[in-house]
Amino acid sequence: MNSKEVKDLNIMFKEYTPQQMIEYFQKNYSGEVALSTSLSMEDQILTKMVCDIDKTIRVFTLDTGRLFSETYDLIDKTSKHFDKNIEVFFPDSSAVEEMVNHHSINLFYDNVENRKLCCKIRKMEPLSRAFKGLKVWICGLRQEQSITRYGLDPVEIDAQNGLIKVSPLYNWSLKDVKEYINKNSIPYNALFDSGFSSIGCQPCTRAVKDGEDERGGRWWWEDANTKECGLHKKN
Ligand code: ADX
Ligand code: SF4
Repeated sequence: MNSKEVKDLNIMFKEYTPQQMIEYFQKNYSGEVALSTSLSMEDQILTKMVCDIDKTIRVFTLDTGRLFSETYDLIDKTSKHFDKNIEVFFPDSSAVEEMVNHHSINLFYDNVENRKLCCKIRKMEPLSRAFKGLKVWICGLRQEQSITRYGLDPVEIDAQNGLIKVSPLYNWSLKDVKEYINKNSIPYNALFDSGFSSIGCQPCTRAVKDGEDERGGRWWWEDANTKECGLHKKN
């Protein structure tokens, strides 16, 4: 897909619901579409939409080995709730061993380079394996989540992985998300009710404080402009 096609699609999608966007890609790229879920509220909504549209669409998650126990519980609960297998991808055990033994078990607190190395080994590498055979990547990004996401379009090209990246909830507010979850009785992470509006790995996530944006509790010791783990790098 070239940049003109992406631009046209983004104009067309202004009138589309999230479900219509997913349907569009499932129709045109059947068998090559997948949703990556971190079990966030957004991803829970997308899991429901995907299951309603076509249960053959793949849904996968990356288990970094450092997730909250509440997130593990939710993987199981969600799978049962939607009667849908959530594929789990793990990091390469030798790479994790080497990293931890060369640096330290909690290396991410030492400096940004170490933090990025950990995200690379625990998330990026498994993600590239999960992408095998895919053309379209559905994810739960929203513009409102942080300064790094304000300019998000529903369709973007992920040049790094050679994929069409779709964010059907790109213009939803947190209020929209919560309302949809409640209205449809969708299971969500128990930590949300304790102020965790964005949840990643346990050592790198805390509850959000007053005045912070939704992702203020992620890598809270770092500058807001660098707070992406590499999954959502801008081209
Ligand atoms: S992150 O880059 O900071 O970790 P965030 O938690 O906001 O991202 O999630 C944004 C989107 O990235 C999610 O909606 C999901 O599509 C994808 N994502 C993030 N973490 C994971 C994960 N562990 N497994 C699968 N997908 C993930
Ligand atoms: Fe490692 Fe933290 Fe990145 Fe998880 S979020 S992969 S623990 S640095």
